[in-house]
Amino acid sequence: MNLDQKMNIEKTLKALHHDAQKDYMRMGKGIVKSIFRPMQPADFKHAYLPISKEQGVHLRELIIENDCKQVVEFGTSFGISTIYLADAVRQTGGKVISTELLKNKAEKASQNIKDAGLNDYVEIKIGDAMETLKDHHTPIDFLFLDGWKDLYLPLFQMLEPHFHSGTLIYADNMDMADTAPYANYIKLKKNRYTTRSIYHGKAFLSLAS
Ligand SMILES: C[S@@+](CC[C@H](N)C(=O)[O-])C[C@H]1O[C@@H](n2cnc3c(N)ncnc32)[C@H](O)[C@@H]1O
Repeated sequence: MNLDQKMNIEKTLKALHHDAQKDYMRMGKGIVKSIFRPMQPADFKHAYLPISKEQGVHLRELIIENDCKQVVEFGTSFGISTIYLADAVRQTGGKVISTELLKNKAEKASQNIKDAGLNDYVEIKIGDAMETLKDHHTPIDFLFLDGWKDLYLPLFQMLEPHFHSGTLIYADNMDMADTAPYANYIKLKKNRYTTRSIYHGKAFLSLAS
């Protein structure tokens, strides 16, 4: 990859992070609805809800340093995190399988990933990840959990047979109440997973033995 292509990735990420700063204007209606019933993904169909730039750079470093090739992402949104993951697997010779429930978000993410020049490294599966990853059958080197929080545990358990010694699992938003079943599960399985909390408890990074 030449300098122009690397600059294109950074330019795309910069524009997306900048646009995501306006999420507060896109989230109002969804937040009002959540007063009366639990929040739903479609309430935030226009919002990025992205990881920070710092987290993206860290994810990329983790994947490269640990030579992870097969990366699975739960929750593409508009593709900010996916671009960091794809840039990492570009360097390790791997592939990202990312999942997004909402078609409009998956389509926009595809365009953003294309703009970054990384579409050869990503497959986006559209629909409920519990369905689209049901038949997943290859080993997973790195799992990034960032979709709906109450699905962290069932999705993790569904994919667990594909983990191996050295699989890394990065779970974002661990400060949200709905992630508690997942947090309890990995705590119970401490012989299998070594976990540390990062970003003051915002995320958990686990290593499978
Ligand atoms: C926090 S956002 C992801 C942000 C993205 N990882 C980033 O950093 O740019 C969570 C996303 O998960 C998606 N989502 C929610 N439930 C899902 C499901 N069952 N299957 C797949 N995606 C889901 C939502 O539509 C939303 O776009």
